[in-house]
Amino acid sequence: PPVSLIGAPTDIGAGHRGARLGPEALRIAGLGEALVKRGVDVADRGNLDGPRNPWQKPVEGYRHLPEVVEWNRLVMDAVATELRDGRMPILLGGDHCLGLGSITAVARHCRETGKQLRVLWLDAHADFNTSQVTPSGNVHGMPVACLCGLGPQALTHLAGEAPAIRPDVIRQIGIRSVDEGEKRLVKEYGLDVYDMRYIDEVGMKRAMEEALEGVDENTHLHVSFDVDFLDPSIAPGVGTTVPGGPNYREAQLVMEMIADSGRMGSLDIVELNPLLDKRNHTAKLAVDLVESLFGKSTLMRD
Ligand code: ARG
Ligand code: MN
Ligand code: MN
Ligand code: MN
Repeated sequence: PPVSLIGAPTDIGAGHRGARLGPEALRIAGLGEALVKRGVDVADRGNLDGPRNPWQKPVEGYRHLPEVVEWNRLVMDAVATELRDGRMPILLGGDHCLGLGSITAVARHCRETGKQLRVLWLDAHADFNTSQVTPSGNVHGMPVACLCGLGPQALTHLAGEAPAIRPDVIRQIGIRSVDEGEKRLVKEYGLDVYDMRYIDEVGMKRAMEEALEGVDENTHLHVSFDVDFLDPSIAPGVGTTVPGGPNYREAQLVMEMIADSGRMGSLDIVELNPLLDKRNHTAKLAVDLVESLFGKSTLMRD
């Protein structure tokens, strides 16, 4: 399907400033051109215009909650518009709190069109914190919990009803940093987590086969790609690096296997922070991986 790029230049949910520059970094790294080269029909919708980051301390366990709500409303509406027009939205974050708005829109689209939803959450983090257990108050550590109905009303009920999704539609891949209280919640909600220990033991190929199991012609696959999923040695341009992530080949395999499924219907690229990068290298890597998501392959057999 045709693709629409939606920029959301904000770091409202993060603990470092700079993810607001993510959309421009991805454009300058050649994201649009790379997709055009792959034969994709691309429209760049430009950037959403949300509230500025007041850079305040957390209030009752949340930093910038009203602004986070506003940004997520904008993202939800923009993503919903593209889906309604039969296009594939690519959200250019911005920090990962925006996954809430994006996936809330996707989930509603799936309910309306009778599609099965599957969410692949590629991340070093589970992003399943609540105001009670968060170590930081940063809402980018909370979107998965909010999607599952756990969080402040304004975020859990973004589209009017809650929860936006059931935990069993999510597969989390690459996880290697989960806070103490967060870990309890992840277990309680029964999230399907392919952590780095599991990937080390069975290999990325089998982990991805399992994560994609049950994906069929009627499935809308949403990929939420937090760039800190990648090992920091190849992707230093993010605010919350965690060592021990997928290497270049493993990351390519993930993208190629998603492409092979043929079912990706929407994508988030979040947490890219070019201020922490060198020569926009991490954005270029992200573009390289997105090319694979859209079918570029080094495979010689067919
Ligand atoms: N677990 C930590 C927190 O809640 C870090 C979250 C990082 N999330 C992200 N989307 N980069 O503060
Ligand atoms: Mn994340
Ligand atoms: Mn992360
Ligand atoms: Mn669709």
